[in-house]
Amino acid sequence: MRQFVLYARKAVTSPDFALDDLPGSGGRMDLVARCICNALWLSHAVRRDSCIHIVAYGRPNPPVVISFYGETLRGVSPDERNIAAWIKNALAAKRKNPGITVRTISFQQLIEELASRGAFFYILHEKGRDISTLELKADSVFVLGDHLGLPRNEEKFVARCAHERISLGTSSYLASHCITVLHYELDRRCTWSSR
Ligand SMILES: C[S@@+](CC[C@H](N)C(=O)[O-])C[C@H]1O[C@@H](n2cnc3c(N)ncnc32)[C@H](O)[C@@H]1O
Repeated sequence: MRQFVLYARKAVTSPDFALDDLPGSGGRMDLVARCICNALWLSHAVRRDSCIHIVAYGRPNPPVVISFYGETLRGVSPDERNIAAWIKNALAAKRKNPGITVRTISFQQLIEELASRGAFFYILHEKGRDISTLELKADSVFVLGDHLGLPRNEEKFVARCAHERISLGTSSYLASHCITVLHYELDRRCTWSSR
């Protein structure tokens, strides 16, 4: 399974945000929704082999980990507003979706949990090793920062596990765009290796 972890330091941890104001009242919930869309959707299909964990550190009850699992997700459409509405439902513990979970665990607890299941981590950073020179391991976890980047102490924590720090180039891209590029790279490499 392809897994993505997004550290979202402003994303709110209560359902009282406005769907008409995802950047403000949602604490950049627009960014979060775009990352979820890019992690899970193809054109007219959900990537059943992918999931994304959003680690929300915004007000009022951080931390909260909101996970979307492509394998079991039902009835969600890929637009930002609909994804955000499902996040609202999940935070309010209303209208359950089999593909969405909410847990009150921290970034480090999530990383420990994934590591205990044998995960290999790729930390996405502009100054990491150039992705084009690497063979990517299948079934890995890709860790991304939000608009402010991944906090240094959290990056150090991931770096205690089996990991590689990788770069998509020297430009700083939106986290959601990085997810698309990663899928593209992995899709192409899988197609080539199965020829
Ligand atoms: C908008 S960037 C954050 C920029 C922030 N100003 C910083 O200095 O970290 C969001 C995240 O996308 C990932 N990212 C952006 N550009 C990248 C690149 N060229 N290579 C690898 N990861 C990248 C990183 O994980 C980064 O934390």
